[in-house]
Amino acid sequence: MLSPHLHIENTKDTRASAVAGMTVRFPTPRESARSYVAAPSAPKCTVIDDRAALKQQVKEANDIVAVVGKRLNLRPAGPTFKGLCPFHEDSRPSFDVDPRRQRYRCWACGKHGDVFNFVQEYDKVSFPEALELLARDAGISLEKIQKNPQGPSRAGMLDVMKWAADLFQQCLLESPQAEAARKYLGERKLVGDTVRKFGLGFAPSGGEWLVRESANAGKPAEMLESVGLIAKRDQGRGYYDRFRDRVMFPIRDIQGRIVGFGGRILPSSVVSADRPPPKYYNSAETSLFSKSDQLYGIDLARQAANKAGYLAIVEGYTDVMMAHQHGIGQVVATMGTALNARHVKKLKGVVSRVVLVFDADAGGEGGVDRALEVFVAHDLDLRIATLPEGLDPCDLLAAQGPEPFRLALERAVDVFEHKLQRVWAKHASSGLDGRRLAAEEMLAILALSPAERSVKLELMVNRIAHRLQIKEETVWSRLKELRGVRKNAEAREPAQGALIPDSTPKGRGEDLPAQPTETQSAKAAPHERELVELLLAEPALLSRAAIEVPSDEMEHPGLRKVIEALYRLHALGQPADLDHLHGFVDNERLWTKVLEFHERGLDYADRPWVFQKVLERFAERRLLRRRQALLNQLQDAADEASKLEILRQLRDLSSTGTAL
Ligand code: UTP
Ligand code: MN
Repeated sequence: MLSPHLHIENTKDTRASAVAGMTVRFPTPRESARSYVAAPSAPKCTVIDDRAALKQQVKEANDIVAVVGKRLNLRPAGPTFKGLCPFHEDSRPSFDVDPRRQRYRCWACGKHGDVFNFVQEYDKVSFPEALELLARDAGISLEKIQKNPQGPSRAGMLDVMKWAADLFQQCLLESPQAEAARKYLGERKLVGDTVRKFGLGFAPSGGEWLVRESANAGKPAEMLESVGLIAKRDQGRGYYDRFRDRVMFPIRDIQGRIVGFGGRILPSSVVSADRPPPKYYNSAETSLFSKSDQLYGIDLARQAANKAGYLAIVEGYTDVMMAHQHGIGQVVATMGTALNARHVKKLKGVVSRVVLVFDADAGGEGGVDRALEVFVAHDLDLRIATLPEGLDPCDLLAAQGPEPFRLALERAVDVFEHKLQRVWAKHASSGLDGRRLAAEEMLAILALSPAERSVKLELMVNRIAHRLQIKEETVWSRLKELRGVRKNAEAREPAQGALIPDSTPKGRGEDLPAQPTETQSAKAAPHERELVELLLAEPALLSRAAIEVPSDEMEHPGLRKVIEALYRLHALGQPADLDHLHGFVDNERLWTKVLEFHERGLDYADRPWVFQKVLERFAERRLLRRRQALLNQLQDAADEASKLEILRQLRDLSSTGTAL
């Protein structure tokens, strides 16, 4: 249990750590909490008088932008800061942090509050724990606070993890017991700086080393047990160390706090031949640590990822370390699990592009497929980098320096393209049937995409058609069929949130609804939205857009309003930037959308190309309309002469159509 007089040093370093077992089951936080409540020696909780004053002090010491910004990427947007909302499946930055009011709000899901609410919700902690964490971050002493007797607090767990990590590290760097470990790391070509940067340590063999150290340091055994560093002996009393004779890799969260450990066995470890232990022990699930959503190295990789524009994901701890050692900082690793939706959610707060690194020989394709499925449903750009045969990043870097690895990252291929190449290689030899099979395999993936039609999707369909020599229309209609099948299968699941909720009765002058209506299914046509995104990001395109796309061609009322305002500014000779545009948009929700569209537009790699595509889509729609109108006229035509005239116009229209 926590010492009731936990003294918090005036330091910003908040690293700490947690662990639990692969074979031994550790109590879940709730179970531990129960046993803590049951413990007769649990101290009574006394509420201190100046709690409100303390809350105020802690609040003032923690700027909300800094606290949120440590956990997600925020960008300044006028007087506030914006990012992707961590509390719902956000594809556009709907999350608004206001430094003046020290509050946050998500315009889409409605979550809002102050710095305490945010930490409670994001870190999944209680109010007292949030208070403790924030106080610790700000270097405020909580000596006066009586600890919550209901089991280990998050801050307490973090504290013991950091304590243990320091001890392991000191052991690795100084102890004679760690000679073999130091030698091993040296052989792996990991230098001292890297070892220190990643906080590596060593847990000696013996079995009660940590148990004794913790007793000497006055750390409660229950606390160490709750984070899985030690475990109770089967029979009799006492505890034993869960990590013995292992190199310890602290696993830190995005803020650099140690939440878990991976412990690697040494080649020299004496192990039983019939029951060899796993190479790595990882922490079991605690409220601090969940193996399936951690990304090793994320705390160190964030800045480099921002600069590089992407984050690379490798497979092992040593791969991450070696990349950093060679100056390639935008690298993280999953914890031996495939990339999943929880990772992606975390990643979306940090970068918009991810490069998955696979060894050429590894059974990587399964990983690619799983990642594809996750990514298709999210709005993240995913690329695949393949390394030279037989080498993992660590070996490649150690043997050949940074260049081959850097090159592999730079040459990463869009995941669809990668998949298409693989699929095609597999089926190419079996002629027409092979082409059909290849197309089916690709479309099954595309059908998972939430967008009906987008420039990205168009590009993929175009590529499939081209590569497999199938007509584009055929590909589209098959995709539509597959979607239908999927939709039916998922009919009972809640609908994907519409990007732009459309007001139900379509008509002129209607505005976007004032209330968030994420579940409404009507969507703006992607090319209408894309046009707005482009024009916001690159006003230079306005002159051409104003000529080619009259504002009344915009069907979506909100988007039409934005386009009208942009055209007006352009006609007035005023800069069509956000500042000037703001005057024309009085609807808060629409304005939030405008800001999101602007950011989105900035993300387009090749704006002129996308613009061209978008104009083509408008032309296509125009053509379809015109054809339909003529066909209607044809039905109503009174005499032969006017029928012939309409037919002539239809023919002209068709030739324009093919010219497109
Ligand atoms: P690797 O075996 O590639 O690990 O497994 P590595 O980090 O490259 O280790 P070295 O190079 O042999 O020292 C990749 C990842 O899978 C997880 C770990 O997260 C590891 O980094 N893993 C692997 C486990 O959790 N348990 C294991 O027994 C093995
Ligand atoms: Mn490896």
